[in-house]
Amino acid sequence: MCGIVGFTGARDAAPVLLQGLERLEYRGYDSAGIAVFHDGAIQVEKVSGRIAGLREKTDNGAGAPGAAGIGHTRWATHGAPTDQNAHPHLSNDGRFAVVHNGIIENYLALRQELMDYGYVFHSETDTETIVHLLEHYYNGDLKAAVMKTAARLEGSYALGILCTETPGVLYAVREASPLILGVGVGENYFASDVTALVAHTKNVMYLDDGELARLTADSVTVYNCAGQEVQKPVSRVTWSVEAAEKGGYAHFMLKEIMEQPAAVKAALAPRIQGGRVQMDDFDLEAKELRDVRKIIITACGSAYYAGCSARYAIEKLCRIPVQVELASELRYCDPMVDEHTLVLVVSQSGETADTIAALKECRNRGAKVIGIVNVVGSTIAKLSDHVLYTFAGPEIAVATTKGYTTQLVVLYLFALYAASKLGRIGMERYDALVKELQQLPQKIQQAIDMNWQLPRLAGRYASPSLFFIGRNTDYAVALEGALKMKEISYLHAESYAAGELKHGTIALIGENQPVIAVCCNEALMDKTLSNIVEVKARGAKVLALAVKGNKTIVSQADDVIFIPRVETLFSPAVAVVPLQLLAYYTAREKGCDIDKPRNLAKSVTVE
Ligand code: F6R
Repeated sequence: MCGIVGFTGARDAAPVLLQGLERLEYRGYDSAGIAVFHDGAIQVEKVSGRIAGLREKTDNGAGAPGAAGIGHTRWATHGAPTDQNAHPHLSNDGRFAVVHNGIIENYLALRQELMDYGYVFHSETDTETIVHLLEHYYNGDLKAAVMKTAARLEGSYALGILCTETPGVLYAVREASPLILGVGVGENYFASDVTALVAHTKNVMYLDDGELARLTADSVTVYNCAGQEVQKPVSRVTWSVEAAEKGGYAHFMLKEIMEQPAAVKAALAPRIQGGRVQMDDFDLEAKELRDVRKIIITACGSAYYAGCSARYAIEKLCRIPVQVELASELRYCDPMVDEHTLVLVVSQSGETADTIAALKECRNRGAKVIGIVNVVGSTIAKLSDHVLYTFAGPEIAVATTKGYTTQLVVLYLFALYAASKLGRIGMERYDALVKELQQLPQKIQQAIDMNWQLPRLAGRYASPSLFFIGRNTDYAVALEGALKMKEISYLHAESYAAGELKHGTIALIGENQPVIAVCCNEALMDKTLSNIVEVKARGAKVLALAVKGNKTIVSQADDVIFIPRVETLFSPAVAVVPLQLLAYYTAREKGCDIDKPRNLAKSVTVE
């Protein structure tokens, strides 16, 4: 949800800022801008639309010389995506420029106060209040003005600040929005995400909430909210530049779908040693687990659907009740959570505002929290008692794919780990399930290889409205399959528990209605089959997703896509892959902007 970047060094800032913004474009892409300090003044360039427009406007940065600058790519919250509302925003006296990711909740009161002082507003944004506050509080000490400004702001913000009075100096401030400092040689950076930094440096510092940083070409100094200097460790990023590039694929989404065998392997390999699930990253004693009366999995979107899938594995193997809750609902429902509740918080970005709020709510009620997170050093990782990283690598496409499958396998690992600690699984079953987990990467690869006919099927089943049905683990897959279809192809897709159709929704099934029937849970195959027969009797066109060799399905469905045979509890990690591809090819057929679907952003840092 908006990306910010900053650079100070000895070379021109604009090309670095533009490149950084391109890497951050997945966070928001309705307008963009840069501000660069040069010859005693700040030059601001901004456009509505994509970074490509900003490149063109600035002649690839050559039109905005200067060795210190800040940049922004926007996902509009306050005010339409226009040039005026694009960041950076400039103070009335032209001495300050600000970029902001987040939301200032008290901006209306601040705006009124600043207008009463005589400040003139040029945009509808909440951000503009920040730059006028800076001007208002500045009396020769920039750090003091930044601190006074930050103290007035309520809400979430990552700020980048440029000031004509302090050439070569940038300020960066963080409160509940991601912000990372890049430490280079003779140049330094900040960004919302490491993907914007890895081309220049792999040495980073993670700012904590309430901290601010002063960056010059040669120094990075971090202060707490009281203005005292704090020593921050420098961490090494393991992601490569190539990992954040398309690598010959037409879209990041396709690349990330294809990366799933490797990503799932990366999530599994370090945690299975000598045939046993080892969680080096955390250790829950059997006693602690025995104290757990219920597990809550909380998350948003696809991460929530990962929880819906994994619930079956955890309940079956650990015999602990599992509740899967949308984070945006959990936070407001006065949840029945106490010190006997274990909360699994699932998030690719680790920055989703609703998920963070749900986590805090549960912690305040005494629950122990395990974060299942991809982005190292993210807010959810910091707030959790234990973190299990998913090791998916950078996920750039807005629609998650490898982020989701790696969340699933980490949840499966947790299920096996806990079941074994609790002594609730026999050795033979345990060994068999560990082997099944180890085979997931190759089975995902087979699911990709088997389905060369998907581009054709995507054309055949594209329709203004689709149904995705399934039971139990298959229902969880249907939920994720329908979400993928909706978000990137803009087709209405309804996911339904197959057995529920006849309780109302079957009224919508008519001639040629496409129904995608997930039938990979072989124990429930006959039941889902009867639902297929029901919809076919009403004229539906059925595309089934089944385990290879299933002849009954072939005889009933109009078309079938297959996955290899896989342990039912873990089957969602394989079954979802053809549905990701179906959504991808459908969106491609429709000419949609696959990596940056309309109205969406990768990291949802607002409520
Ligand atoms: C869908 C998608 C979203 C995210 C959701 C949570 O493809 O990407 O539904 O899953 O916004 O995001 P994280 O996992 O970053 O908390």
